[in-house]
Amino acid sequence: MAPLRVGAQAIAPNPPAVTWPTTANLSGLDFLPPGLQALNNDPGSNPVTLWLERGQQAWSDASTGPSCASCHGPVQALRQAVVGFPRLRVPDQRLINLEDQIQTCRQRSGKAAATDGLENEEVLALSALLHQTAKGLAWDVKAPSTTPADQAVWQAHLQQGANMFAQRLGRMNLACLHCHVQNIGRQLRAEVISPGHPTGFPVYRMSWQRLGSLDRRLRACYSGVQASMPPPGDPVLRELELYLKVRASGIPLDGPSLRR
Ligand code: HEC
Ligand code: HEC
Repeated sequence: MAPLRVGAQAIAPNPPAVTWPTTANLSGLDFLPPGLQALNNDPGSNPVTLWLERGQQAWSDASTGPSCASCHGPVQALRQAVVGFPRLRVPDQRLINLEDQIQTCRQRSGKAAATDGLENEEVLALSALLHQTAKGLAWDVKAPSTTPADQAVWQAHLQQGANMFAQRLGRMNLACLHCHVQNIGRQLRAEVISPGHPTGFPVYRMSWQRLGSLDRRLRACYSGVQASMPPPGDPVLRELELYLKVRASGIPLDGPSLRR
């Protein structure tokens, strides 16, 4: 006799149109509909391409002072550095991410500090370009090699990030892990919940109609649970970024990429 389960499945009312994966080690790209995946894989129509071109121009822009290239050489030379952020900036013991470093270095190139901060188009274009050169590498975030005291500070930042990931937030009273560990593959409004890895950033989000940083995405998750959003660049976002990158170890970097 055929097992009843099979028959019952065959006549299940409203079968889901797509079955999404539920495993933890997948990239956000695996949770996009096939059309968006195809667009992501086609440089000719992927809007990220325009940002990469803009990043190339910015890399060799010497109109206000020394260009990035004049101090660093070809962008590929920084490939390994990309996967080492966020890192501890020893003098003030803060974690800085790649976009923070780009902002510091833009001033070395004689650019005024961006008033729109991390979401400045040139900062994002340079971030996209640098991430593109590091595609396929694994994150390599680690404690500074300076002193045991600095290493302890780094560990404390990492622990804070891990704690935040498990802490309930906002009017929905949900922690990051309730969605990105316990509900992977579930539909939430127009989105499908992925494991929440940082590997695909910066992302061109269709709903933003532009490129955005991991910092912005994390703030969007705060607002998603109706919690008050930390300001851009807040230390807690850097601690979460560090934890997410440790958590994503073994998953290759595949950004910049598209999202819904
Ligand atoms: C109510 C569910 C929910 C909670 C809670 C939540 N998120 Fe998200 N998050 C989403 C959805 C939906 C998306 C967009 C689809 C996806 O998962 O990629 C997303 C996207 C992300 C992404 C981008 C993944 C990608 O590949 O584009 C990251 C990283 C992330 N969240 C981290 C977090 C962190 C850290 C927290 C806790 C501060 C958190 N999220 C809390 C629902 C949630
Ligand atoms: C005048 C020289 C100079 C210019 C111009 C410059 N940088 Fe830097 N850059 C540095 C120095 C010095 C460091 C070492 C870390 C520090 O002191 O911030 C650095 C570090 C970096 C790093 C981390 C690399 C590593 O191996 O640790 C990145 C990424 C970077 N710069 C990107 C850029 C970008 C993008 C631009 C152009 C907007 C740029 N830099 C322009 C001097 C420069």
